[in-house]
Amino acid sequence: MAATAPATAATPAVAPAPRRRPTRRAGIFGVGAALPGKVVTNDDLAQRLDTSDEWIVRRTGIRTRHWLDGDEQLAPLAAEACRRALADAGREPDEVDRIIVTTITPDRLTPGLAPTVAGLIGCPTSVVTADLNAACAGFLVALDEAAGAVESGRSDVVLVCAAEALTRITDRDDRSTAVLFGDGAAAVVVAGGDLEGGIGRFVHGTDPSMADALYVGIEERLLRMEGQTVYRHAVARMVEATAASLAASGLTIDDIDLFVAHQANARIIQTAAAELGMPDEKVMIDVDRCANTSSATIPLALERAQREGRLAPGATIALAALGAGFVWSAGVVRWKERAHVCA
Ligand code: ACO
Repeated sequence: MAATAPATAATPAVAPAPRRRPTRRAGIFGVGAALPGKVVTNDDLAQRLDTSDEWIVRRTGIRTRHWLDGDEQLAPLAAEACRRALADAGREPDEVDRIIVTTITPDRLTPGLAPTVAGLIGCPTSVVTADLNAACAGFLVALDEAAGAVESGRSDVVLVCAAEALTRITDRDDRSTAVLFGDGAAAVVVAGGDLEGGIGRFVHGTDPSMADALYVGIEERLLRMEGQTVYRHAVARMVEATAASLAASGLTIDDIDLFVAHQANARIIQTAAAELGMPDEKVMIDVDRCANTSSATIPLALERAQREGRLAPGATIALAALGAGFVWSAGVVRWKERAHVCA
């Protein structure tokens, strides 16, 4: 057996603890939103449909929604949301190397919104741009993709923008859907650093057997759904996925500061929150203001939560969504965590 060398000044008897190797993790560092100027109230809708403010508020929690007017386009709205998110993060457009726009209602079938947004905000031509369609779960799926790009080192600064014009696919004569939807855009800036939480593990799911419960046909181009089926699955899948994402992160409900779920119906969100044991004061409701804007509801709600002082830097947020597919997703995010830049 080799003799142990005596301790000297050069070889201390007790070795110092190894320095923690910085791990590059992705986090959210800025948020911005842009809504069309036209506001439509429940009473406005009741003037042309057999409905009432009382029914809509009681069954959905919706009070107003924003609609694009006439031939207003979505890309300028998305670009404005991106500019505001960059300003909030203290970043410049020339730092952005990837833009993912989630949408089911682009201005044209192709090109998608992302290349137009890159041009409007002045990104370098080397930027990667792509649209992503995962319906109402789109923002969470894109956030996960952005985190993967940053953590693998393939991107440094990613804009994830959700931009939707549900009015383009809404049957305005069908009271069971016409009251539910709105238009809007919101974006976050995803970048890397030596973070403890950042964008945590996401739990995803897909059930193609439910495709006919919520869809827009290629010919008709109007949203059709079995409302109660969607309702039941939204509650069940969001609860399961949120619980699984908390477990994967080693967290409990007590660790969560805010629950931001897809804003389709206040009753869906409140039922899911109650099943999770989430107290009311931790539940974000924005469907009252914007109605259902598909993939844009979660970042719109995040922007409002920050503006209203409900999201301080370092807050831990649980996110969950289900939409057409069915596709669902849930995850935990540490909001604007202080980052030590990784080499
Ligand atoms: N005003 C007045 N009455 C109405 C309206 C309305 N706007 N809409 C439906 N009703 C009536 C129905 O005709 C029905 O009348 P009946 O009993 O005489 O037949 C009654 O209200 C109840 O209808 P339900 O469909 O049972 O109402 P419910 O409480 O389920 O609410 C709703 C309907 C709001 C659609 C609900 O099922 C829901 O929110 N589902 C989930 C929707 C969703 O998340 N969709 C996914 C969105 S798609 C996307 O995000 C892109």
